[in-house]
Amino acid sequence: MKIIITTTQAGREPNNLLKSFIDESMLSFVERRRKALPMLMEEHQADAVIVWRAEGPVLYSGHDMEEFYFHPSMAKNRLSSLRKLALPDPFINACGLKRDSTVLDCTMGRGADAIAASYICGSGKVLGLESVFAIALVMKWGMKLYRSRMPWLDEAIHGIKVEYADHNTYLKEAKDNSFDIVYFDPMFRQPRHKSQPISPLRQLADHRPLETSAIREACRVARKKVVVKETFSSGEFERLGFKKIMGSHHNPINYGVIEL
Ligand SMILES: C[S@@+](CC[C@H](N)C(=O)[O-])C[C@H]1O[C@@H](n2cnc3c(N)ncnc32)[C@H](O)[C@@H]1O
Repeated sequence: MKIIITTTQAGREPNNLLKSFIDESMLSFVERRRKALPMLMEEHQADAVIVWRAEGPVLYSGHDMEEFYFHPSMAKNRLSSLRKLALPDPFINACGLKRDSTVLDCTMGRGADAIAASYICGSGKVLGLESVFAIALVMKWGMKLYRSRMPWLDEAIHGIKVEYADHNTYLKEAKDNSFDIVYFDPMFRQPRHKSQPISPLRQLADHRPLETSAIREACRVARKKVVVKETFSSGEFERLGFKKIMGSHHNPINYGVIEL
């Protein structure tokens, strides 16, 4: 996928932050010159364009110029319920997360689970891997620049390290027992809400099923647990060798857990 970077219509010369983004991404920067994004993409034969905003990068791609950017709405709602109402969070329970646990999130996506983990475990304890370059880039910089009026949320977000990597490769090279928890939340085999429009993440994401070798390596890399989020009906727990399944009868989404 060829991606270019530009500014908003009102944007001027790249500032230092944008220069670092351009350097790190190694993508080409093109001047906006008040042009519409589809025109810019056509001129540069690009499949997608990242518009640099002060709050973080926004990726536009696909026929409908779908927007993809970092926003912690789902994590914020989950953590607010946990803080105010002490409502249990099935992911935190399945992983058995505690202060100072270390977590390797092998499928970071929009980062809701990584943020929940970082909130519980503390800053610098969560590493999120993402195999789609555009997702990893937008998430990393969106998280870095995100500021809210909730210091607890900002701290959880800023404490996550994001890496563009395929977990199959990363796990093979990782040392034994290097994280307490290794977690996978792959794209569902079938979209859960067929009637809803396909989300920008779904269009961009890596849809490969989990490899049995990734689970084997995860059992070597994790000290305490390997956890997979899936629907029971997918048959994935059985295929991947998970016997302990956690979750409620009311929710089709479950967590397969291997205790080490
Ligand atoms: C369902 S989403 C994860 C959602 C995430 N748990 C959250 O809370 O927002 C799955 C993500 O994993 C990524 N992914 C799939 N296979 C991967 C792999 N082999 N290595 C790293 N990331 C992968 C996909 O591109 C997608 O962004």
